[in-house]
Amino acid sequence: LSAAPDRAAPPRTPAPRAPELSVPPLAGGGVPGLGHGWKLVRDPLGFLAQLRDHGDVVRLKLGPKTVYAVTTPALTGALALDPDYEIGGPLWESLEGLLGKKGVATANGPQHRRQRRTIQPAFRADIIHEYGPIMEEEARAFAARWEPGATVDCTSESFRVAVRIAARCLLRGKFMDERAERLSVALTTVFRGMYRRMVIPAGPLYRLPLPPLRKFDHALADLHDLVDEIIDERRSSGQKPDDLLTALLEAKDDNGDLIDEQEIHDQVVAILTPGSETIASTIMWILQVLAEHPEQADKVAAEVKSVVGDRPVGFDDVRKLSHTNNVVVEAMRLCPAVWILTRRAVTETELGGYRIPAGADIVYSPYAIQRDPRSYRQHLDFDPERWLPERSKDIPKYAMRPFSLGNRKCPSDHFSMAQLTLITATVASRWRYEQVSGSNDTTRVGITLRPHKLLLTARPR
Ligand code: HEM
Repeated sequence: LSAAPDRAAPPRTPAPRAPELSVPPLAGGGVPGLGHGWKLVRDPLGFLAQLRDHGDVVRLKLGPKTVYAVTTPALTGALALDPDYEIGGPLWESLEGLLGKKGVATANGPQHRRQRRTIQPAFRADIIHEYGPIMEEEARAFAARWEPGATVDCTSESFRVAVRIAARCLLRGKFMDERAERLSVALTTVFRGMYRRMVIPAGPLYRLPLPPLRKFDHALADLHDLVDEIIDERRSSGQKPDDLLTALLEAKDDNGDLIDEQEIHDQVVAILTPGSETIASTIMWILQVLAEHPEQADKVAAEVKSVVGDRPVGFDDVRKLSHTNNVVVEAMRLCPAVWILTRRAVTETELGGYRIPAGADIVYSPYAIQRDPRSYRQHLDFDPERWLPERSKDIPKYAMRPFSLGNRKCPSDHFSMAQLTLITATVASRWRYEQVSGSNDTTRVGITLRPHKLLLTARPR
């Protein structure tokens, strides 16, 4: 999956207020008083997917609030590339409250540009190459979790490998080995509780002394403590390896002063949290695919064999594993970790011929876009070959942007694809997977999409 290069932002000129711009149609199915909120809570994926039948841009009523939804690939591209929209809206505000206000994922304007300049070098192609040995070691350790016939709970294992790779590559140091374990335990609980707090913002109720709520508080506190420990320990070691943490510790703000402690802390959180949940969820879907489509797993194993022979697959082999890469992309198309994205209009503007008022919240769903029958033939089939060059040329622009595009594009697109392809090749060339009784691979909607509870046994190839 080649990530599209960021385009230079066009100069910010407010769109002229054209009298002929109309108000987008109201989506059907709203309930008086509640609007579309209950549908969004009850069946968010089904609800977002059918919005395309109501128009290219539609209005939703969430209680008293109007939210705009965009339903075509072209308009999601326009939204992501247009500087009239920035990160904002209820999704981000609830995240800020828990994870911090000064991280790159929630900042806007000059602060965001400065922060991207600081973190971007850690994701450059030549640096990712240096992470190769760590990714190989982690992918092999992950594959070694299975023993013939034994059942593995894929949720905790996928989180563990995702956190370990992000933490060991980006925040280097031996100490990361045991901290990565603690981080993965804390993050699993935090993400579970965070989604609930985002969709049901019941403020004071979450402070009640109930065990699950306290468990969430402890995990969140542990996450922040861990990040502080990592930063303190690096400082007191006096070492400055060439990594993301050193870049953050030496970063300067626009006045040339070192960034403050809170910003360093929030930046580490803002990189580790999206970096682990997204990868962990995607690994779970890939494992689910390998179990459900054994013929695809066989093809991956055959490709690995033809490229690397009998030695273990390594980081440098990844770019030659085109079918394996297509399996990863197709899993990400049908089961995207990031299923909803939001923006806020900074000024009154135009989208798809409709007027969007200043301050409006806009949502779109990569899940709905990537399963749209207007963009994909046999849209629900798992068909990695649709990504062969001769077939993929017919897929509309922006119909497959799991890492988004524009100035908020995921900095980790190449890093993510490299590790996902390596992990897929490593496990599929070693094992044949099967779900066991008690496994539930239906989609669990949270901050990301992942299977509810994936339990797999493996037989050696
Ligand atoms: C942003 C997807 C892995 C760090 C994003 C965005 C998407 C995304 C769609 C843009 C959000 C928006 O437009 O509002 C993914 C997927 C991943 C993945 C699908 C893996 C399958 C990672 C990893 C890291 C990471 C491994 C770090 C180690 C970030 C950060 C941002 C971001 C820091 C915020 C960028 C900004 O706002 O400027 N990601 N991501 N992501 N991602 Fe990823």
